[in-house]
Amino acid sequence: MSAPRQDPLRDPRFFADPYPTYERLREGCPVQRIPSGSGGHQAYLITGHAEAREAFTHPDLSKDTARFFAGRPSGRDLHPAVSRTMLASDPPEHTRQRRVVTPLFSTGRVRELRPYIARVAGELMSAWRPGTDVDLVAELAVPLPVTVVCELLGVPEPDRTALAGWSHDLFDATDTARVDAASHRIGDYLTHLVDTARATPGDGPLPSLLSDCDAGGLDRDETVSLAALLLVAGHETTTHFIGNAVLALLRHPEAYDRLRRDPDLIPGALDELLRHDSPVSVATFRHSTRDLRVGGFDIPAGHPVLIAPGAANRDPAAFPDPHRLDLDRDATAHLSFGHGIHRCPGAPLARAEAEIALRTLLTRFPHTRLTTPAAPLTWRRTRLTRGLTTLPVTLA
Ligand code: HEM
Repeated sequence: MSAPRQDPLRDPRFFADPYPTYERLREGCPVQRIPSGSGGHQAYLITGHAEAREAFTHPDLSKDTARFFAGRPSGRDLHPAVSRTMLASDPPEHTRQRRVVTPLFSTGRVRELRPYIARVAGELMSAWRPGTDVDLVAELAVPLPVTVVCELLGVPEPDRTALAGWSHDLFDATDTARVDAASHRIGDYLTHLVDTARATPGDGPLPSLLSDCDAGGLDRDETVSLAALLLVAGHETTTHFIGNAVLALLRHPEAYDRLRRDPDLIPGALDELLRHDSPVSVATFRHSTRDLRVGGFDIPAGHPVLIAPGAANRDPAAFPDPHRLDLDRDATAHLSFGHGIHRCPGAPLARAEAEIALRTLLTRFPHTRLTTPAAPLTWRRTRLTRGLTTLPVTLA
């Protein structure tokens, strides 16, 4: 079938609601050639669930972004701490760094963090009053993950707002100069933070992270880049998880009522909430290192390959009646956290944060509703993540 002539992932209608576009593309072909970016490059977009799973583990799809752009003008000026993370690397490099990261989010470590997460969520809602309106994105979904990830990295409180702002700018698909500038601010800041912590040894989360990095053989640049990855990967994604989950529940009163009556059902509902509106819409950059096939479709060597969990999660072949939020379905095969060797190591932390945010909201303000008259909801203009810019709710 013929490829679309415009990049379908840059259309304003896509940002507002990607699902009709995804459906159209998947019905055309689940592995689809599309024009990508402003330079008229061709990329391959994967929208089918089986094809996405296959692509996530394909040995000839590389995550080594530097290798792809070697000798090609990228036109970008990203700080290396942001552009050369383990998420942009292949084994054996990736394996070495991943060994340091996995234990950071073990069940035990996340369990230890839960009281802290609950305290932050409680404090954020402490000034909220029934009958008033709040922007749930600005007042809960943004500050909760930022505070938690800054705590993990030992970022002093006065610096957290600036760091959150730069991290937010990094996802601005409409302004590459701003993205590049934000990457330098983050890279410079974290380099300083790591160097200072090394010069003044003490206790706490950052010295503990640094000793894990030392034990894993990570050098200074790799340590800074790991800190940058944790900040960037752990913040915006979890913000969108919380925002999208609350919106889905407010739009599905039966599901909302079930969780309100029995908040112990919340952990079991998280997979379906993640599936229904994936915070990561299109996974990060991959490219084909040789001619290959995914799902029986050809992908020639040397092309960017975009795997879309947002589309795969709504593939009717994997999830019947996929647009319906159905808390009774088994949604565990969703691809919101990716799949294969780069699968999100922070998933247990993201789940804990979302669960605690929802539990605190539903317990303290059980009859919260969307503020009426509803202004049209606006979404971040980036194909990578899917999330609201604001979510006005009336507390009750
Ligand atoms: C709901 C929230 C989250 C979602 C939806 C999410 C999603 C993802 C996805 C899809 C990937 C793989 C990307 C790819 O293969 O292209 C990934 C990787 C990663 N995520 Fe998450 N993530 C979330 C929260 C977090 C948190 C809280 C952290 C840590 C603080 C984190 C740290 C990472 C890291 C370090 C990687 C790179 C793994 C590797 O390269 O092996 N994420 N995440």
